[in-house]
Amino acid sequence: MRRTGKISKATSRKMEEARWNDVMTTGRVPPPMNAIEQQELEKILNGFQTPGAGDQKPQWARVPLNETWSMMISTPMFNAQNIVDTIVQEREVSDDSIDEFYRGDRLWPSSVVLARWLAIHPKPPAPLRGKVVLELGAGLGLPSLTAARLGADSVLLQDKDGAALQEAMVSVVEGNQSSVVSALRSTWDELPERLLSAPEESLRRFAGADVLLGSEVLYDERAAEGVAGVLAKLLQTQEQRAYITDACKQRHRGLFIRLCEEAGLSVSDVDVSCWEPEEDTINEHAAMNDVFCRLLTVSRP
Ligand SMILES: C[S@@+](CC[C@H](N)C(=O)[O-])C[C@H]1O[C@@H](n2cnc3c(N)ncnc32)[C@H](O)[C@@H]1O
Repeated sequence: MRRTGKISKATSRKMEEARWNDVMTTGRVPPPMNAIEQQELEKILNGFQTPGAGDQKPQWARVPLNETWSMMISTPMFNAQNIVDTIVQEREVSDDSIDEFYRGDRLWPSSVVLARWLAIHPKPPAPLRGKVVLELGAGLGLPSLTAARLGADSVLLQDKDGAALQEAMVSVVEGNQSSVVSALRSTWDELPERLLSAPEESLRRFAGADVLLGSEVLYDERAAEGVAGVLAKLLQTQEQRAYITDACKQRHRGLFIRLCEEAGLSVSDVDVSCWEPEEDTINEHAAMNDVFCRLLTVSRP
């Protein structure tokens, strides 16, 4: 039995403050971690080790969502350590790490946070039963699969990365969700027109999706502009909502919020806290809880 290293509350608070308050209020990058924080990080990383990680073979990641549910996600290459390194240590996207963020073929921690938030949120604003759901930059599609599990009527995974979508569909088929979940390969620039002018109603309906989802999709200026552009066009009624989780991209999140507001949308930006598995007996992803996320809720007032 393996246990994940749990980050202490005090360190957690410190890291959180460094990450959010400092950067958000002053625009400065937080100072490097001290020795204690480094140790805590080590523990987190140890907790992330997955059997078979690094050997590049496809494998199934089991991601607990709440006390009773887990999702099985097919991951072509699970390299959580790199992801946590990127998100926790670098704290901001750098020229060296940017290529990593363009990849959809791995399970990003923000997607775990978003899926858990959807699964545990007790009542509106996240009721998914019977809803039409569109996930932007879905990658392996954990939030989408979760939405289907929570009773969404139809779900569309959208990404420009065809290989990641293909992998996501492996999880969809394995989870018996193929009657509800489908995938569309397109860029954010193309997407609104593609949906609005789709000849088939089964695709066109996503132009008016009730709920739009996105995790780790604001990682650079182009991405923030792309996602904001999609929301500006597709969020047309007061009832629609977009939920976007973002781990650390302060500057680009700010740009995203500004662009949304310029398009007449309102954005709330809060820390997201989610259910966390107590102990890691079955779950190598428990350490993902320690990656702090913001949840942006976007709507048309
Ligand atoms: C950091 S990954 C996040 C993937 C997934 N949402 C997750 O959290 O696991 C960013 C995703 O955005 C997709 N992406 C980047 N630029 C895009 C664009 N212009 N149009 C559509 N998807 C894009 C990438 O292919 C990748 O899947």
